[in-house]
Amino acid sequence: MRGIVGRKMTMVAALMATTGMAAAEDVEVLHWWTSGGEAAALNVLKDDLGTKSIGWVDMPVAGGGGEAAMTALRARVTAGNPPTAVQMLGFDILDWAGEGALGDLTDVAAAEGWDAVVPVALQGFSKYDGKWIAAPVNVHSTNWVWINKAALDATGLGEPTTWEELVAILDAMQAAGITPLAHGGQAWQDATVFDAVVLGLGTDFYKAAFIDLDPEALGGAQMAEAFDRLIKLSSYVDENFSGRDWNLASSMVINGEAGMQMMGDWAKGEFVNAGKVPGADFVCIRFPGTQGAVTFNSDQFAMFGVSGEGAVAAQGAMASAIMNPVFQSAFNVVKGSAPARTDVPNDAFDDCGKKAMADLAAANDSGTLFGSMAHGHAAPASVKNATYDVITAAFNGEYADGTAAAAALADAVAAAQ
Ligand code: BGC
Repeated sequence: MRGIVGRKMTMVAALMATTGMAAAEDVEVLHWWTSGGEAAALNVLKDDLGTKSIGWVDMPVAGGGGEAAMTALRARVTAGNPPTAVQMLGFDILDWAGEGALGDLTDVAAAEGWDAVVPVALQGFSKYDGKWIAAPVNVHSTNWVWINKAALDATGLGEPTTWEELVAILDAMQAAGITPLAHGGQAWQDATVFDAVVLGLGTDFYKAAFIDLDPEALGGAQMAEAFDRLIKLSSYVDENFSGRDWNLASSMVINGEAGMQMMGDWAKGEFVNAGKVPGADFVCIRFPGTQGAVTFNSDQFAMFGVSGEGAVAAQGAMASAIMNPVFQSAFNVVKGSAPARTDVPNDAFDDCGKKAMADLAAANDSGTLFGSMAHGHAAPASVKNATYDVITAAFNGEYADGTAAAAALADAVAAAQ
């Protein structure tokens, strides 16, 4: 990995020498944006930084949800050689800040008035001890369903708004001979589906179980029902689901091999990257029963403590570029997410993007905006990982029923705290 990085740095330096560009500091960026849609969005960022003469050294670590990226990060920090800027989620940012590993973006944030435009729910993860420690690039949400329009039309049923209607459509798709649910059996994907299932049983329940970690909510009758629903959903996947990457599951829906995918709105990036149009080729709906509520996760770039004025200046310039409203529109249109600022116009966004922005604002106003457990915004990594284990075991039929799974969840979360 080091060798590749070193070679790329040399290439950037050589390019600058041949083009006569002023020697700019490079930023080495660790991220997990490796799918087609993600790479397209990443290019928007790379190109934007390029116009500001900030050189880009790529450190991609594939793996949705970022677990592998976080393992790679830990190794780099332990070796005393952290990357300059790191894509990070929620509680991981606060953990690194607590370790004193992050740089301080407060000067640039104050000069640009970030406090007034970044939603307070995001600021909870961008600030530590009153200082800005990360620049949020987007707001994703996990309670979406992406449905192939032709497959939906073939069922003769409308867009589902309740659990029962959802099951009716899944059954109809199964009867029609296509895989109803495109899914990849990876813990973070199982957990992403479960975010929506839990939220579908009520916003108070989601909050009690996943935000407040109330043992009664984690182990009680509603959680048993949530697991029964998850187990039901597992009956609609194809036999090759195990280990499949999320973007390959998106492709199954894009190609009409499968009916729908339950996934965060990075999936829309895949549909758009494949030239598909919302309303015509695919339909985006909130997971039935979660209308009016949002489970969010925000990709933020945390800046690691680096030495040298030039390197610190490049971090500030990168953070400033990320927070630019014009960039936030251009990037999020491609990524599938909503902007991380409240003052970005929605004109450039497609119907799903407009809905994402409107839903986010409405949920924020009505107190139904919650951090995603699956994507590190509800609880620290130790608890998140404990939920992953139980959710995946349940999805794979390892418990007798939902009641047994709920009891296991309550125990696992208690042990992880
Ligand atoms: C990130 C997204 C990313 C997705 C799949 C999520 O945790 O927030 O930006 O596209 O994982 O890799």
